[in-house]
Amino acid sequence: MAIDLLIRNGTIVTSDATFKASVGIDKGKIVAIGEEMSIPEGRTVINARGLHVLPGLIDAHVHLREPGVEYKEDFNTGSRAAVAGGITTVVDMPNVIPPTADVPAFNLKVSRLRGKSFVDIAVLAVVLNTNLKQLIPLHKAGVIGYKVFLGETVGGIPAPDDGPLIEAWDIIAPTGRRTCIHGEHRPITSHLIEKLKKEGRKDPLAHVDSRPPISAVQAVMTAINYCRLTGAKLHDLHEGCKEVIDMIRETKEKGDVDVTVETGPHYLLMTAEDMKKKKIGNMLRMNPPIRYKGHHDTLWKGLNDGTIDMIATDHSPHTVREKSRKSIWDIIPGFPGVQTNVPLILSEVNKGRMSLNQYVRVQSENPAKIWQMYPEKGSLQLGTDGDITIVDMKKKGVIRTKDLLSKNKITPWDGWKVQGMPVYTIIRGHVVMENGKINGPPIGDLVTPVDHKPVSKPKRAASRKKK
Ligand code: DOR
Ligand code: ZN
Repeated sequence: MAIDLLIRNGTIVTSDATFKASVGIDKGKIVAIGEEMSIPEGRTVINARGLHVLPGLIDAHVHLREPGVEYKEDFNTGSRAAVAGGITTVVDMPNVIPPTADVPAFNLKVSRLRGKSFVDIAVLAVVLNTNLKQLIPLHKAGVIGYKVFLGETVGGIPAPDDGPLIEAWDIIAPTGRRTCIHGEHRPITSHLIEKLKKEGRKDPLAHVDSRPPISAVQAVMTAINYCRLTGAKLHDLHEGCKEVIDMIRETKEKGDVDVTVETGPHYLLMTAEDMKKKKIGNMLRMNPPIRYKGHHDTLWKGLNDGTIDMIATDHSPHTVREKSRKSIWDIIPGFPGVQTNVPLILSEVNKGRMSLNQYVRVQSENPAKIWQMYPEKGSLQLGTDGDITIVDMKKKGVIRTKDLLSKNKITPWDGWKVQGMPVYTIIRGHVVMENGKINGPPIGDLVTPVDHKPVSKPKRAASRKKK
């Protein structure tokens, strides 16, 4: 009997092996990997000769802006950008309106993504002073984990005070779910912003100077200590600062806290000095900021030696207007990244900065493990979700703003020459992107942790009988 999809004769790449084989997918699951002869005919066949077949790539840090902020992005536009960029699953951030702080807000987000998204989406809940009682109901509802905005940023989400934060981690620890932090220390950054504004600074680098490495170190150090004492799992988001990476390396070596960390393409490939360029200076305003020269080597070393667990983009879309005001203080921080990341990093793989196996580890396997989606996501194991990204390591291209599928077409990568591009994005057996063309319908669905047990709804008939 024929199966749904046969990917013929590609080079399979996992985190620890590279080999030639064909892959069969049926009813959304991987059903065979091996010699083509041993796999049934496919109703759809992709010839992957000369191409690399990777487990579906994951961007574990995106802001798709629904509900409430759809003028910047929505599940449809953001997910098109994701699958065009070779991404099969994203982790979506909670700074929307209403913030994902209780079960009704979570359910609202889930109802919006179904039928609209092309990509699979896992959802994070936010931790506030005021929602501690919601943390377990959110866990039961199926959030992938939690987020704490220690640093001030877009959406004005208040940081929890230390007391409620420790209590939150006491509550979250037994669930086994992880909490990610925006690791910047507000008292330091607010003081410096005030001071630099008083001095009359409005240039792009004033933003970088207002959020120095010491602010990141202070925030992440405190979070590590609280998680050491409460037993909660910690993930440090969007890290570009070598001092923090060194601290995390030491903590991992000591082994008494379950801490993980991500970095992003802008921290790996750009420096604060790029903010002196007229065309992109203001656009590059991002929280935390892109660092001055001197951090790249630590980041690349960290990615190769396992200190840095993953690459994620912090895809943060805003309108062209919001990104083109005059004073740096009026520019909204963030820019899109979900569509451009894979070609940018594959280009570095081609230059020998990282092996393709290690890339699979940091862009698929580790994010899936860290956010407890593994092995359904992030693996090519038989019986798991048929999520696959096929890449052409020879294909060259140039990143162009006009090619972005995000609602607002802005990118600091315009004009970057790349080699290594995603050519097929396959989600649960659906070929949603083929050579840059998006295929509907939008089949994206909610991703819950692999050990999540859906709460069964009380049976109405039974309760009526009792009465
Ligand atoms: O620059 C940023 N923009 N950093 C964040 O942490 C949030 C993001 C956004 O939501 O736009
Ligand atoms: Zn973010």
